[in-house]
Amino acid sequence: MIQKLWPYLRPYKKWFILGIICSAAEAVFELLIPLVMAKIVDVGIQNGDASYTMRMGALMVVMAVISLLIGVSSAYLSARTGQGFGASLRAAEYENIQTFAFSNIERFSTASLITRLTSDVNAMQLTMMMGMRLLVRAPVMLVSALVLAMMISLQLSQVFLVAIPVLAVAIGALLFLVSPLFRQMQEKTDSLNLDVQENLTAIRVVKAFVREDYEKSKFDRNNQDLRDIAEKANGRVVINMPIMMLVIYGTIIAILWFGGHMVQTGALEVGLLTTFVTYVTQIMVSLLMVSMMFMMLTRSVACARRIIEVLDEKPDINDSHCDSTMRVKDGSIRFEHVSFKYDPKSPDWNLEDINLDIKAGQTIGIIGGTGSAKTTLVQLIPRLYEATAGRVLVGGQNVRSYTMEHLRDSCAMVLQKNTLFSGTIRENLLWGNENATDEDIERACRIACVDEFIDRMPEGYDTDLGQGGVNVSGGQKQRLCIARALLKNPKVLILDDSTSAVDMATDAKIRTAFATELPKTTKIIIAQRIASVCDADQIIVMDDGKISAVGTHEELMQNSAIYREVYTSQKEGGNIDG
Ligand SMILES: Nc1ncnc2c1ncn2[C@@H]1O[C@H](COP(=O)(O)OP(=O)(O)OP(=O)(O)O)[C@@H](O)[C@H]1O
Ligand SMILES: [Mg+2]
Repeated sequence: MIQKLWPYLRPYKKWFILGIICSAAEAVFELLIPLVMAKIVDVGIQNGDASYTMRMGALMVVMAVISLLIGVSSAYLSARTGQGFGASLRAAEYENIQTFAFSNIERFSTASLITRLTSDVNAMQLTMMMGMRLLVRAPVMLVSALVLAMMISLQLSQVFLVAIPVLAVAIGALLFLVSPLFRQMQEKTDSLNLDVQENLTAIRVVKAFVREDYEKSKFDRNNQDLRDIAEKANGRVVINMPIMMLVIYGTIIAILWFGGHMVQTGALEVGLLTTFVTYVTQIMVSLLMVSMMFMMLTRSVACARRIIEVLDEKPDINDSHCDSTMRVKDGSIRFEHVSFKYDPKSPDWNLEDINLDIKAGQTIGIIGGTGSAKTTLVQLIPRLYEATAGRVLVGGQNVRSYTMEHLRDSCAMVLQKNTLFSGTIRENLLWGNENATDEDIERACRIACVDEFIDRMPEGYDTDLGQGGVNVSGGQKQRLCIARALLKNPKVLILDDSTSAVDMATDAKIRTAFATELPKTTKIIIAQRIASVCDADQIIVMDDGKISAVGTHEELMQNSAIYREVYTSQKEGGNIDG
């Protein structure tokens, strides 16, 4: 694990090492101060030497100031290292997530990815910051205080032979009891985050269905769970304190008892006994710090594991088979015995033995009931998913032979669940192709019928869309998404139910514009309305993951019972012109 995380700490190696040195130095200084104190008591005060006392007092002040300065530096360095380490972990995670295929993201879920990017990294950051101080300070303090105490009186130090093992056993037992609870606590935090995230993303749906109370009780349940487990964990952690105090004061009493006798017999000086007691406290406090640190470490090990999972995840789809010079020469598409399933372990195919031959420039309509795998079929063309069996060819070449970037630029897909980003309309359109000129934008907007409403927007192309494009209607959003895809000048344009919220007349206008303005582009249109596809060169009727029929409108009216049925039902519903 350390080996995996080290590269992200390496840029801050200098700060890290300096910070550790400062922490150690700070601890040493704190230990030397009681020695000077002993000198003041045993030499200065006993001999009534005021100038010696003053000199030693001054030395103590200087040492305290140095120790303070070193302490501040160590705090600064550890904060800097911790934050830097966190930032580079986040950057690495984010970068790797960008390479993920849809299937990778589904495996983690977006909510969990966000938790892993934020709260898990925060925990690591905090542990690094505290660890650099406490984990260095505590052992240094412990060992040096032990050595110094033994130097003062070996005989008296025998008390530690009893005290330290007692403490070690107590802390060990506590850690054993607490660590599984910490793991559970992290998991509960996860599910609470997931809950909040889902709720906030879908807040409009929650409000539309008036499910606030249900959502609230779901949240309360998760929140309560987290509280219970945290209470239980912390309830065990606080036992730490009384045990520590018991042992600390027990040890001090023992030392005062034995030490007192030694002072009476003249075997030990009073000042040294005071110093000895200070060391005892320091030793015990160090042990307390170590135990606290171990508890924190237990928690951050769980977080580190989750972060490493993200860092280690290999994208399911990559450019390893491609020839980077290969270009899509035209918009022809072939499916050769293509089968596909989302879950490789599932016995059922989501798409089964698909054979298709689409010529460049054709308009293809795809129709079929919900869940009949229309989206699944077209997602294989820009390689959003890869065929499990068989081959998909674009421009006469296997899609795997193109780089993903080139393929997806050539095969623009307007997704069924589409999004716009915060920013202006122009920024959103340029997101499709940053080099597009104003004329390109106007042309794309004319074809997608965006020009019909752009004049009515308060600032035209410079209107701000708000988060996720909330300022436009469903149909306007769909048209903007089509325009954004058109700006890529694609050889293949795939519209997955992209005009479902557009009125029939505008829908027809868009299709006419496609035919006249984009004669060379292969257009694949998935639709629920027969009117949207009836003038296509080929219409594919999907049924339960298979192609049920292919043909023109007239052919299908003759041959396909499903098509006829859809046609009749829509005609009755008044959904078909003429
Ligand atoms: N990401 C996914 N992971 C697992 N299964 C999926 C995934 N997406 C779709 N499916 C399953 O694949 C099947 C086909 O889904 P698909 O989205 O292709 O249907 P569709 O024809 O586009 O439906 P709609 O008209 O509602 O958009 C469905 O049974 C669905 O449950
Ligand atoms: Mg779909």
